[in-house]
Amino acid sequence: MNILVFGKDGQLGKAFKALFEQLPASANLRVTYLGRAECDLSKEGEVLEQLNAAKADLIINASAYTAVDKAETEIDLAYAVNARAPELMAQYAVASNATFLHYSTDYVFDGGKEGFYVEDDIRNPLSMYGKSKAAGEEAIEKTFANSSKGQFAIFRTSWVYGDGGNFICTILRLAKEREALKVIHDQYGVPTSAEWLAQVTLDLVLDSAWKLKQFPSGIYHAVPAGEATWYGLASFAVQAALNAGIELRIKPDAIQPILAVEYPLPAPRPMNSRMDSFKLRSALQNQASEASNSYNDPQNMPSFPAWEGMVQEYISRLASKGLI
Ligand SMILES: NC(=O)c1ccc[n+]([C@@H]2O[C@H](COP(=O)([O-])OP(=O)(O)OC[C@H]3O[C@@H](n4cnc5c(N)ncnc54)[C@H](OP(=O)(O)O)[C@@H]3O)[C@@H](O)[C@H]2O)c1
Repeated sequence: MNILVFGKDGQLGKAFKALFEQLPASANLRVTYLGRAECDLSKEGEVLEQLNAAKADLIINASAYTAVDKAETEIDLAYAVNARAPELMAQYAVASNATFLHYSTDYVFDGGKEGFYVEDDIRNPLSMYGKSKAAGEEAIEKTFANSSKGQFAIFRTSWVYGDGGNFICTILRLAKEREALKVIHDQYGVPTSAEWLAQVTLDLVLDSAWKLKQFPSGIYHAVPAGEATWYGLASFAVQAALNAGIELRIKPDAIQPILAVEYPLPAPRPMNSRMDSFKLRSALQNQASEASNSYNDPQNMPSFPAWEGMVQEYISRLASKGLI
């Protein structure tokens, strides 16, 4: 099977590369990885050229314009990368009967909902980044709605960390440099490991023999169990680093909770980014039941692992490699 991965140098792209490289040769996957140097996603001609050359059965778009604040002024670029390029990928997938995996964000919501967002909740992005990602979702849905060929999944996720710049790494760097830190305590979301995200989303589309399987096309929320505030995540990360033997200048009690209004940024963020993963868990459980010919009891739906364990493991790994 031919697989094409866009965004090989990002957190999620690197997680996919690490995952595919672990697989045995017998999996028989031919994976092409593209970064900015091979394909500038703001240039339609380059995207089309790479799609035509790869003849992929599975297209994974791990790339995105993710500079949330800069997107407020680089609007055309954000739309080109986050909306037009995914639309071209979707059109190619439809034309060639391929499977398309795309990733989106909690920022397509306005954050005003009480509780956890479900897939059918209305998109109402506050920022240009969120608007460009919402436009990408809509373009993909529209492209597939007009055809019976190909299949797609859009995985909405939040607060991603992996091999690259992210909130956890920033907090741990600051915890080495400063005596005190102020972190927002009234925005809620779910920290998501890029490694876990790559694995759980591949589980939906590849069977145990690494062959493509059928799944219900649509949007899925892909986040671990639990919820956090940025302050909660920062405190947890600092304690986890201390537990891993890292010397820091601060302890969790030196982190001061503040309100989002006390830390204004160019792009508005949703106050509530919590997303419900029931639909994805249910699809995975249905597939497992079908494969084993067993009954799927929706009352006994296993939850995804909680974010805390994954963050602890991530920080321990960074510490053991001397990366923090
Ligand atoms: N990070 C988060 O907290 C978060 C939260 C919610 C949803 N998401 C979504 O999750 C997905 C993966 O995010 P991530 O954290 O892995 O993002 P990331 O680390 O910022 O990686 C994005 C990749 O896209 C590439 N890219 C950007 N503009 C490009 C262009 N014009 N041409 C070619 N490549 C370009 C970047 O290339 P360079 O390396 O050359 O810059 C980068 O490697 C994205 O769809 C994102 O919207 C992320």
